[in-house]
Amino acid sequence: MKIQVTDRAGETHVLDALEGWRVMEIIRDHGLPIKAECGGACACATCHVYVDADWQDLLHPPTDEEIEMLDTTPSVEPASRLSCQILFRPELSGLSVTLAPEDL
Ligand code: FES
Repeated sequence: MKIQVTDRAGETHVLDALEGWRVMEIIRDHGLPIKAECGGACACATCHVYVDADWQDLLHPPTDEEIEMLDTTPSVEPASRLSCQILFRPELSGLSVTLAPEDL
């Protein structure tokens, strides 16, 4: 199972993904530059990613807390999600996301 992550330089990385891991953890553990300052507590927005349009409907909708936290970042877009709030499951194999700018 894999996910595909485009970094801020536009380079695409294909990463091994494990069921039950947060997408943020997968990105961080492969050494890509994601701060994830709060460690996945939905309290920082430094794990912000843009989810490819093909995958958005497969994700659980964001909670109010996630939406509020995303609204604190100037780079929020309709495709924005906090990657710590996306639990990887097999149906998400192939998920494609792009790291958002570091603007916090
Ligand atoms: Fe802080 Fe995701 S790691 S909100």
